[in-house]
Amino acid sequence: MHKFDLDTPALVIDWDIMQRNICAMQQVADDAGVKLRPHTKTHKTPLISHLQMRAGAKGITVAKLGEAEVMNAGGVDDILIAFPLQGAPKMERLLYLAERANVRVSLDSRQVAQDISDAAHARGAKIGMYVEVDVGLGRVGTMHHEGARDLVREIVELPGVEFLGIMTHAGHTYKAKSLEEIRQIGKEEGEWMVETAELIRADGIEVREVSVGSTPTARFSANVKGVTEIRPGTYVFYDTTQVLKYACSWDDCAQTILATVVAKHPDRLIFDAGSKTLSSDAAPNGLFGTVKNFPNLEIWRLNEEHATVRIAGEGPLPNIGDKVEIIPNHACAVMNLHDSFVAVSQDQVIGEFEIQARGKIR
Ligand SMILES: Cc1ncc(COP(=O)(O)O)c(C=O)c1O
Repeated sequence: MHKFDLDTPALVIDWDIMQRNICAMQQVADDAGVKLRPHTKTHKTPLISHLQMRAGAKGITVAKLGEAEVMNAGGVDDILIAFPLQGAPKMERLLYLAERANVRVSLDSRQVAQDISDAAHARGAKIGMYVEVDVGLGRVGTMHHEGARDLVREIVELPGVEFLGIMTHAGHTYKAKSLEEIRQIGKEEGEWMVETAELIRADGIEVREVSVGSTPTARFSANVKGVTEIRPGTYVFYDTTQVLKYACSWDDCAQTILATVVAKHPDRLIFDAGSKTLSSDAAPNGLFGTVKNFPNLEIWRLNEEHATVRIAGEGPLPNIGDKVEIIPNHACAVMNLHDSFVAVSQDQVIGEFEIQARGKIR
């Protein structure tokens, strides 16, 4: 079946582009001599994790315990949960998962480390752990250098956790205005982490992993000597934001929403894809997705089920009933909105797959 024969709105993944993206990022990691541990919050699908690992990835990253459980049930057994886990129900689930998988966690406080250690020690277990370091995002993370060193000093003594290394996510790169700025953030991301690792090592503590990662900075931070692991996620599909942040070209975007034109007026068109399909995330250009092959169309407003599309220039226009392809702004948010995606190769449908970890926010 041709993809334009699908009912709409439909979430479509171009399998060939995705495979190419997987191999290209693996090449970045291999060339730099670092491990790739992709963040799978982007695709939320064990099958795609397996493709990433078959290409050479050493394990995966997730944001949530629920995602880790789905990935493990789907046969993935080396998982970093890059989120500080809190509360008795999560401790219980973490320890259950740790009996089945090589699971590691990240955190930035003595309290979270202590809670995990207490729960693990009571079961005679030990949980691998990264200390998260802030290199500029201002989210989770100790201050780099002394802040991280001081926390590591405290938690290496805890019996139920094993300190493996340090990690960061330079998410502030999404505010950068130029490729040069992104290159600089990537370089600092790597260099500050390596310096922090050296400071911790000066205490005689082993730091096995120096883990960094975002899609725009990966190719720059990977090449800083002393970095051991990168964790980009969005690269698997890319999206409008990634193009505008110089991480890829339009031809690298594997994820599209197929939509239908349902109304046409002199100044605007309406598509059957709103915020429940495309997410409400705007791109740096203030628009809500990019209409492929129609540079004169701008998605400037979303309601829940409608996209209002401004006619912003001369050129051919689709008619009511025509199908259009939209490159979303934020691939990860879109995956979380859909039950399944349709895979296509050379525009032909090759399968439909459940997005098994969608909605796993706990
Ligand atoms: C901790 C962590 N690592 C890695 C990533 C992947 O970054 P990107 O979305 O730029 O691929 C994220 C993204 O949110 C993250 O939060």
